[in-house]
Amino acid sequence: MRARLTSSHFVGRVGELAELELAVQEAMAGRPALVLLGGDSGVGKTRLVGELERRLSLAGEPDGQAGPLVLRGDGVEQGDGELPYAPLLSALRPLLRQRHPTLDALTSGSRAQLATILPGLDEDGRQRDQRPDPSSQLRLFEAALELIDCLSESAPVVLILEDMHWADRSTRAFVAFLARSLRQERVVLVLTYRADELHRRHPLRPLLSELERLGRARRIELAPFDRGELGEALADILGAQPDTPLLERLFMRSEGNPLYTEELLAAGLDGRGAAPQSLRDAFLVRIERLSGDAQQVARAVAVGRTADQPALAAVTALERDRLQTGLREALAEQVLVTGDDERFSFRHALLREAMYDDLLPGERGELHIAFAAYLEQRHGGAAEGELERSAAVASHYAAAGDQPAALRSTIAAALAAERVLAYGEAADLTERALELWPRVPEVERVAGIDYVELLGRAARAHSIGGDRTRGEVLLNQALSQLDPEREPARYAALLARLSRMIWSLNRGAEAVQTAERALAMLPDEDPGGVRPLLLAWLARTRFLRGRFRQTVVDGQVALDAAVQAGDRLAETEVLNTLGMARVALGDVEAGVGLLRRAVEIAREDDDADSLATAYSNLADMFSVAGRTDEALATAVEGMKSTPRHHSRSRDWMRLTLSEMAFEAGDWDAARRNLSPAPSALVGIVLMFRELREADLALGVGDEDVAARCLESVAELVSVSAEPQWIGLFGALEGELRARRRELDRARAAVEDALDRIELCTDDVMRISRVSAVALRVEADRAQRARDLRAPADRRDALARARMHFDRLGAAAEEGGPVERARLAQGRAELARARGRNADKEWANAASAWEAIKRPYPLAMARWREAEAHVGAGHRAAAVVAARQALEGAQSLGASWLVEEVRALAERARLKLGSPQSPDMARPEAAEDPFGLTPRERQVLALLADGATNRQIGAALFMAEKTASVHVSRILAKLGVSSRTQAAAVVHRLHLA
Ligand SMILES: Nc1ncnc2c1ncn2[C@@H]1O[C@H](COP(=O)(O)OP(=O)(O)OP(=O)(O)O)[C@@H](O)[C@H]1O
Ligand SMILES: [Mg+2]
Repeated sequence: MRARLTSSHFVGRVGELAELELAVQEAMAGRPALVLLGGDSGVGKTRLVGELERRLSLAGEPDGQAGPLVLRGDGVEQGDGELPYAPLLSALRPLLRQRHPTLDALTSGSRAQLATILPGLDEDGRQRDQRPDPSSQLRLFEAALELIDCLSESAPVVLILEDMHWADRSTRAFVAFLARSLRQERVVLVLTYRADELHRRHPLRPLLSELERLGRARRIELAPFDRGELGEALADILGAQPDTPLLERLFMRSEGNPLYTEELLAAGLDGRGAAPQSLRDAFLVRIERLSGDAQQVARAVAVGRTADQPALAAVTALERDRLQTGLREALAEQVLVTGDDERFSFRHALLREAMYDDLLPGERGELHIAFAAYLEQRHGGAAEGELERSAAVASHYAAAGDQPAALRSTIAAALAAERVLAYGEAADLTERALELWPRVPEVERVAGIDYVELLGRAARAHSIGGDRTRGEVLLNQALSQLDPEREPARYAALLARLSRMIWSLNRGAEAVQTAERALAMLPDEDPGGVRPLLLAWLARTRFLRGRFRQTVVDGQVALDAAVQAGDRLAETEVLNTLGMARVALGDVEAGVGLLRRAVEIAREDDDADSLATAYSNLADMFSVAGRTDEALATAVEGMKSTPRHHSRSRDWMRLTLSEMAFEAGDWDAARRNLSPAPSALVGIVLMFRELREADLALGVGDEDVAARCLESVAELVSVSAEPQWIGLFGALEGELRARRRELDRARAAVEDALDRIELCTDDVMRISRVSAVALRVEADRAQRARDLRAPADRRDALARARMHFDRLGAAAEEGGPVERARLAQGRAELARARGRNADKEWANAASAWEAIKRPYPLAMARWREAEAHVGAGHRAAAVVAARQALEGAQSLGASWLVEEVRALAERARLKLGSPQSPDMARPEAAEDPFGLTPRERQVLALLADGATNRQIGAALFMAEKTASVHVSRILAKLGVSSRTQAAAVVHRLHLA
């Protein structure tokens, strides 16, 4: 027996350890760190992180603070089935075993979420009704983030996820989420992976590059030992300095790989005898030296990967004494090791692989079946491990080639994966079951379900997991297997699901047809109880497509059906839909009543998510109805009612509140409620937040911030099918481009948004918002075309302006006071586009905004009104309007508008009185919008009067050449190409 197989003393790696410790220090200072530790198998990654853990546990904190908490989880190599969350589970499980106090500090919601993967966490928690949707997994991730966040409050957390090359997709998704989400938590995330296993299309590759792009990732490539280091390790193992020839031989054969070196030594093959070709050969020499029983035990562990004694007893059929002797021997020879959970595994995964590959095929199959059978009959034990158990059973049967058993257990494993919200894995597993289906005799009896049911489950897993296209294919396949005459209810239920799927794929009309077909064929007795939800869905599609009247009629029928059937899910959906439709039709009181009922139901069911949804819909509807104050008050109430730790709902409510505060003119509150909650934002919430910030930044005049926010969500918006995001993004992008005088891009942005919105809905609220910006852009274009004397462009801009105006008109007919205010403003913009004076139109627009208490568009309208008064020569009226605009802009904090108003006053010599507040004192750039120097303004005045360069030179005492330089610079600043065009701008803006 060997005394020592591996070096007890940790060799080398000074730089790598320093790097890791630096990452920990940074994390302690609130800068979360990410380390990607790669290297060949056996090179020492696990040993390195083990050493880090040891050092961290020794390093007492001088200031009495708790030392870092190390959570370490391993990836599990799974032949063909992926085990969801494997590394994450093994990292978190110790917390559960120790009943870490932080677990009790979690909110009950988060505990319930985490309990889906860590059963036993939420013992006294009630069974929560999980509504599977694409964000279920996200909510689980958020709960895990909250856990890590809470843990890191008392001590920095070092989360080590090992062997990421084997990680399942849920773990990869979690890692991406975590890395993106960390802001200032005291967390270090260390990922280890075998660099030699990452073939070109390995799924870890894209994740690694994504993580590197985040900027805070450190990549460590662990190199093999050099001669000196190998010598140091050998000296420890051998208990004496190795002589030079021995060191040389081992170094040559192992190329500095410590694991290989250790196995060469242990096998007694230190290079003098025949050289084994590989690590595998070296290890097998060691196995051959074991007794028969010990070898049998090792063979079983090679198949089971890890197994406890009862499992080994069952699988090897060795009697107790022989099993124990065999085990003891394998342990003594350091072939196997025990973990802290009393399970046996190989000392190193590579060695297990060697052993497994060496098994005879028949032997391997028998062992797989024995493990599967053993695990199956152990069913009903601890809930902990249910997921692993079912995945392992399925993969053992599959490896053994027992197709009926593989099918049965794969279906069970898919259900277990769904229960833990691992929809990606569930989709893979159901797909595998679909493949097995035709190969199994008497398949329905074996599977316990029919083919249609399996297809339906696969479709569900795919659609929730994100692959809607595949979901649609599967549902259609399921439908093609059914006879609508014989099973109309089942057929209709599938059609109903297909309809929602098609809608989410952005094919609205087809979705509605499908839902109507479903309804038509649903038999009266409706055995599956699908009618309420189907009706609710139909009503919702009507609403989303802007058929508000139809929505109300259909919604009422749906509501009755839902109430009668006691279907709360359908009821809340209808209440929200009906409520919003009523408001959109102008029956604000009725709509608000319905939404309030949705609020109540959510409150009764203690469903924080639905509560937040209903509250923000309600606030939205007040805003749509132009009841700005109530919208704000509702958002505040919603915020108060959302429990502190429901971070997702709270983020949403907070953003709604920010939006309502912005509209009401309280921009400080708007900003305060933008601040990201400690939990990070992704997906739709992220989109919402960035658009809110862009809106606010444009209001203030911070174009760079707005540009950054818009850019960061452009991709999300481009794949979104929701008019609310497409519309807002288009409007903001158009406004930003227009402000920057990038009028081509401004036009492209609004027209793209309009195309996309009108394609699938006639949501007048969004259409009107974008059209208003579009009209403003065309007015700018028409004005510029006039300055540039470009009649074709002017006509084009005007034609488009008219089209947008018509659209605003149509929207105003269907909409409420907000749409009517936009129409009033549109009338003024249209006049501006035509080059007509529009002082009255602007005054009307201002009154319309004033009536619904929207101070920002009001101040803008007053500014335009003042400008128009100046053009008409009404100086006194201009002063009044300009003062109102200035006051409004100042109290909002809309700096850009303050500057515009002042510049107008300057150009037109309007006296606006003393500035209201010292910090709003006139900015430098207010002289003119083009940044001309005083000298250039003198030149421009002459130029506008038709002076030549020579005349300008003579008048201003400068060389003709200098005058010409000034002129070309001025033309560039004005963005025009001729002197006549410059003159036109001067006259229009009263610059001269
Ligand atoms: N710095 C070191 N000092 C002493 N021994 C080491 C060192 N690094 C690695 N070893 C030894 O080499 C063997 C392989 O190391 P380890 O298990 O850490 O490799 P690994 O990179 O994690 O491999 P895999 O990718 O297969 O997980 C172990 O027995 C370990 O003790
Ligand atoms: Mg390792």
